[in-house]
Amino acid sequence: MPSTLARYERIAPFYDLLDLPFEARRYRPLRPLLFEGLSGRLLDAGVGTGRNFPFYPPDSTVTGIDISPAMLARAERRKDQSRARLELRQMDVTDLSFAAGTFDAVISTFLFCVLPDDQQVPALRELARVAKPGAPIRLLEYVRPQGGLRRAITYMWQPWVNWAYGAGFDRHTEQRLPEAGLQLVSSRFVMFDLLKLITARS
Ligand SMILES: C[S@@+](CC[C@H](N)C(=O)[O-])C[C@H]1O[C@@H](n2cnc3c(N)ncnc32)[C@H](O)[C@@H]1O
Repeated sequence: MPSTLARYERIAPFYDLLDLPFEARRYRPLRPLLFEGLSGRLLDAGVGTGRNFPFYPPDSTVTGIDISPAMLARAERRKDQSRARLELRQMDVTDLSFAAGTFDAVISTFLFCVLPDDQQVPALRELARVAKPGAPIRLLEYVRPQGGLRRAITYMWQPWVNWAYGAGFDRHTEQRLPEAGLQLVSSRFVMFDLLKLITARS
């Protein structure tokens, strides 16, 4: 099975094209929710091709990290969409090279649904470590719907999203917060019972 890094090196040239219908109809209206009320020094973990750039608060300083150089290269081309000061770094979210308490807030979109189960808690612990005590950590993630047609569709999509992105609908990220030393602040569905906005803090 290819590693997450290998998957994203492979899919980077096609990523924006494959994602376009979802980005336009589903993700773009939700992305501003991640940044409501945030300012100062922010971390965007798993920044990908930079789809959050237009929504960074203008007076903030954002560091975007990603494990995949090919995804970061595409983000680099999109940098002018950010009104925040922005730097991009290649880094693994489970092993961040920032000092403890560096960031005023941490955000992440669709990273935890692609992180393998055994990396969920290590990644959450790293986000908790690099955020200032009590700082918000906001995640936008796919989860498995409870029932009905939408749940069935996620099972149909599973082989493709797993092959292409390493993504899964059963990561249970929210349930892992206490093990990572984080408290749940809020959790709400922002699209059907499929996409969840989770806010945690140390
Ligand atoms: C589904 S994409 C989401 C990209 C972007 N956040 C967005 O909203 O469009 C997941 C991203 O997480 C990155 N990623 C996966 N595992 C990672 C890890 N261990 N550390 C850092 N980034 C990782 C991938 O390279 C990819 O760019």
